Parts: sequence; structure tokens; C-alpha cells
Amino acid sequence: MANSDTTIVILAAGKGTRLKSSLAKVLHRAGGRSLVEHVVRACLPLKPRGIIAVVGHQAEDVTAAVAPLDVKAVLQQPQRGTGHAMQVARRAIPSRTKIAILLPGDAPLIRAETLRALAEAHGKSGAAATILSAEIANPAGYGRIVRRDDGSVAAIVEDSALTEEQRAIREINSSIYCFSLDKLWPCLATLKPKNIHKELYLTDAIAALREKGDNVQAVLAADPEEVLGCNTRADLAAVDSVFRRRKRAALMDAGVTIELPETVIVDPDVSVGADTRIEPGVHLLGKTRIGMGCTIRTGSILSDAVLEDQVLVKPYSIVTATHLSVGAQVGPFAHLRDGARLQENARVGNFVEVKKSTLGKGVKAMHLTYLGDASIGEGTNIGAGTITCNYDGVNKNPTKIGKRVFVGSDTALVAPVRVGDGAYIGAGSVITKNVPPDALGLARGQQVNKLGWAKTRRKEQNSAAKASTSRSRKKSRSQSSRKK
Ligand code: UD1
Ligand code: CA
Repeated sequence: MANSDTTIVILAAGKGTRLKSSLAKVLHRAGGRSLVEHVVRACLPLKPRGIIAVVGHQAEDVTAAVAPLDVKAVLQQPQRGTGHAMQVARRAIPSRTKIAILLPGDAPLIRAETLRALAEAHGKSGAAATILSAEIANPAGYGRIVRRDDGSVAAIVEDSALTEEQRAIREINSSIYCFSLDKLWPCLATLKPKNIHKELYLTDAIAALREKGDNVQAVLAADPEEVLGCNTRADLAAVDSVFRRRKRAALMDAGVTIELPETVIVDPDVSVGADTRIEPGVHLLGKTRIGMGCTIRTGSILSDAVLEDQVLVKPYSIVTATHLSVGAQVGPFAHLRDGARLQENARVGNFVEVKKSTLGKGVKAMHLTYLGDASIGEGTNIGAGTITCNYDGVNKNPTKIGKRVFVGSDTALVAPVRVGDGAYIGAGSVITKNVPPDALGLARGQQVNKLGWAKTRRKEQNSAAKASTSRSRKKSRSQSSRKK
């Protein structure tokens, strides 16, 4: 449905006082995106003529958040209420537009299907305005829908203005509406700030339409969860958990196993292949892509990582901006970051950090190692405690290690340095010069064995100890005899 008649307006100028935050409300995040971005994404499938965001608080940042999604921002300064925001939006709405769908920037759970149903209902009834409403258990804080006997809407009454009788109404205004603009504009001009906040309330336009004899309808959202607004931190947490649940459900539908799903956090752009298993407490963030048949074990955090098929990430590993090829294994407690790359079947073990380095096929670095700015050829073994000394205090320098090299434990490779194919490095070496292919590189103090030295030392220590005990006995005997 491409809708050249329809413009979508998102109200995103408010501060969000109830969040007690220095950050504008619509920039708060839930489910891995800012609130306003969620709202825009729900609107895109409707293919409207345009999407306009009314911005005010932190206007530049809010504009920057929506601009990549082809949303035009208009500035509302100062913010004098939702009705005023719509008056401001008018400037940016093309005059040929007949219908406006209006949404608040703080109700991010709304779905495109629901907006479509709202627009369809509006078209069918020929009403001047159609409100998306919802029945919720705890309507406190929301505007309530007051219906006439014929089922049409008489007014929206804000929470602060409710009569005792109206307080029992559980049907609330979602702040999502469809308006026929030729009817709305004249009413909008008549709004008065007759409330404690001295604001122009868009909700008052409903009663104004009725006074003019226009018809106003409300359609109930099939799922009341979709219209939840985020006015408080508790609302944000509730909305976040709905997004997380939706994403996990989608992955499980696609054949992913998730253990204790409520403990797993997956960002919206993450993809995971079938038969991959995700253990409790895992976070999959950013643009992470995971292939089929992988296992991500408990407590691991993957951000912008790419995993091919059959990759194993053992517990508590941190994998950021890293590519892991088929059969690679990392962890437990590994840290891979900033362009690390493990080729097929390469393995990184516990307490190993890999930064901006490529480990060729079958390379192993299993224990207590730092590899930075290094390239390591296939089949090489990196011993425990190996360190690439890549930073000289000013520059980062490369280490190049060839194929099938054996690097002994506790080796320091002082970069820039190269180790040729098939070379062998003795344990404990500090390698400062290139090692030619197939050579032994050894750079450590020479060992000296002094025969019998330890035995002699023990004897000396024993006789010294005996002498000191007999001295102290004599002393204590003479002291006790004097006391008598
Ligand atoms: C509003 C509705 C209420 C409804 C509820 C649903 C009004 C008067 N009330 O109340 O009936 O039940 O939403 O969540 O409309 N905004 C601007 N400019 C302004 C003021 C607000 O752009 O001058 C934006 C805010 O950034 C926000 C949206 O409008 O995204 C709604 O404003 P908010 O203050 O959250 O309204 P509620 O009190 O929640
Ligand atoms: Ca709100």
C-alpha cells in the first residue's frame, strides 16, 4: 500500500520529565534501539508520502537519530503541548496530504499491521478522526476514551481532569490517531491551554470536532501491549523486556535453541542460523551474525561479530568486531576485538586476548596470551604466556609469524618482527630480531648448574638453626633460675 495521500507525524519534542534524565525521552533506548527509531521503523512499511518528526528537546540529536531513515524534522520551540506540536508540524505537511497518522515518539511497541488497520478503519467509517485505543488493567496516567451510546467517541479526558465516574474507564487513548486534515486544521486553531500545564492538548481537538458535528471513532488495539508509552524508567524496562521477548521468539521460530530465554539479550539486527544453541546469560549485540550449528556458551557477549557455521564460543568470552570461520573455538574467558579473525578450526583458549590479528587455519593459542597487530600462518602453535609487544609507546607495530611455527611458552615478540615458516622459538625468549624459516630462535639467559650447591646450602642452614636453638635454651634456663 503506497499512500501518497498520507503523511505520518511523530511527536518527539518532549523532554520526558518523569524519566528524570538529561537525555531527551525519545532517545532513551529499549530493545536495542532508541524509542523514536522503533516508531519510525513501524511506520516505514506503510509507505506514506513522508514522515515528519516534531523535535524540540535535544533537537539536533533527535534529528540525527531519525534522518538516516528519511524522516524530516521540524522544530517546535518552545514545546507548548501535543496540540501545539501538530500546529507546528502543519508547516512541513504537503498541502495535498488528506490524511495524517499521528504517533507519539515514546510508544515504540506499535506495529505496522496495527497502523494499517487503523488507517483502513478510518477510510471505511469516513470519520474526521480515528483514535487507536486500548483496554488496559491499570489505566492511571493515560487519557480515557469517553464513548457515546452509539459507540462513537465523545471526548478524550486526560487523567488529571477525570470525574470519579470516568476514572473507572479502562479504555485509554494511545496517542496514535488518524486524522482527515481538512477537518482537523480548523479545530486545531481553536485549542486553548485550559489545563494546569498551560499546554495545548491535541486531545481537546476531539471534543472540538464533535462540537462541529464531525464523527470521531476509536478502534481497539488487538494487543494492548503495543500502545505502552514510556514515561518512566519502569515503563522503559517493561517495554525493553517486550522487545527482547519478541526477538527471542522470532529466533526460536527460526530454529535456534535458547536456554532460559529470559536471561538472553539479542539486539534487533542480530541474525542466528538454525540449530545454533545459546546458553543462559548470553548477549548478542549490534550487527552480530551467527551461522548454523554454533554454540554460544553461558555469559558470553558478542558485539558486531560474524560467526560462520559450527563455531564454539565457550563461557564468559567477549567477542567484538571479530570474524570466526567454520569450526573456530574460543574461550572460556577469551577477549577478541577490533578486527580479530580466526580462520577455519583456529582455537583460542582461556585468558587470551586477540586484537586486529589474523590466526590462520588450525592455529592454536590456548593459554594466557596477547596477540595484537599480528598475522599468524596456518598450523602454528602459540605457547602459553606469549605476548606480542606491539606498542613502543608511540606506534603500533606488526608481528608476522609464518606457517607451522612453534612459539615456546612465555615468549615476548618485540614488534616489528617476523618469524619465518617452520621456525621454532625456545620458551622464555625475548625475540627482537627476525627469525629465519626453519631456524631455532633462542633469546634468554643461559642456564648454569652448580653440582651439590643445594645440598651444601641445606647442611649449612641446618647447623646454623641447631646452634641458635641451643643458645636460646641456655638463656631461658638462666632466666628462670634467677626468678626462683
Ligand atoms: C498523551 C495524551 C494521553 C495519552 C498518552 C498516551 C495528550 C494531552 N495526552 O499523554 O491522552 O493517553 O499520551 O501515551 O496528548 N510532545 C511534543 N511536544 C510537546 C509535548 C509533547 O512533541 O509540546 C511529544 C512528546 O515528546 C511525546 C508525545 O508528544 O512523544 C506525548 O507527550 P507526553 O507528554 O508523553 O504525553 P502523555 O502525558 O503521555
Ligand atoms: Ca507519553
